[in-house]
Amino acid sequence: MTRTRIHNLSISLDGFATGEGQASDAPMGHAGQRLHEWMIATRFGAPIVGRTGGTVGVDDAFAQQHEPGIGAEIMGAGKFGPPSWQDDADWTGWWGPNPPFHTPTVVLTHRPRPSIEMEGGTTFHFLDAAPAEALDAARGLADGRDVRIGGGPTVVRDFLAAGLVDHMHVVQVPIVLGRGVRVWDGLEALEEDYEIEVVSAPSGVTHLTFDRKTS
Ligand SMILES: NC(=O)c1ccc[n+]([C@@H]2O[C@H](COP(=O)([O-])OP(=O)(O)OC[C@H]3O[C@@H](n4cnc5c(N)ncnc54)[C@H](OP(=O)(O)O)[C@@H]3O)[C@@H](O)[C@H]2O)c1
Repeated sequence: MTRTRIHNLSISLDGFATGEGQASDAPMGHAGQRLHEWMIATRFGAPIVGRTGGTVGVDDAFAQQHEPGIGAEIMGAGKFGPPSWQDDADWTGWWGPNPPFHTPTVVLTHRPRPSIEMEGGTTFHFLDAAPAEALDAARGLADGRDVRIGGGPTVVRDFLAAGLVDHMHVVQVPIVLGRGVRVWDGLEALEEDYEIEVVSAPSGVTHLTFDRKTS
């Protein structure tokens, strides 16, 4: 049985996974890169910002789990581009000609458009569908492998609320954002459905893994 997984979801102490004021020059609004500094410092994350090297400790070990066994990603319109990217017929995402997904990638949007095939194995498919229907579509594209819910927080929250997430890795970053988009709202008692493990990293972040209880 394939699983639905979330990896490297970085949140502030007050539960925000992105800041306020997302824009073309501020993909995460006033949060800037602060939620992802832990990852950029690792061997996994350094290439994302064009660096080489990076740490190979606890943070890297968790970050590397993002890729293995994934056959498709689902992301929200808010991750794919800045507000109103749908008005730009040429917008193909933040990531340039060779996006870092390398699988079919379902973009949930209320304004779908034809699929876009990128370099490196990423094809963006645009879908206006409820979470369960989107997951069925992604499974159909995933070639028997797992589906990753790539964010942002609105989409993560919707998939958690629908009971569709089997494994989730959250990284709590010791900053207080105060405003933005929160993950946990409306998910009261979510912890009852999951086995949870917590690891504190020397970098100062805390890794939490949620694995759905089997009974
Ligand atoms: N902290 C992290 O680890 C992390 C990870 C990933 C992303 N991010 C950040 O999170 C931010 C984006 O998150 P977000 O919460 O603002 O937005 P999001 O979750 O990426 O996308 C939400 C939007 O997707 C569309 N959508 C969602 N569900 C849909 C459905 N069932 N059917 C059709 N359309 C649907 C809607 O857009 P429309 O109505 O406009 O179509 C909705 O407003 C970005 O700043 C990104 O950089 C952070």
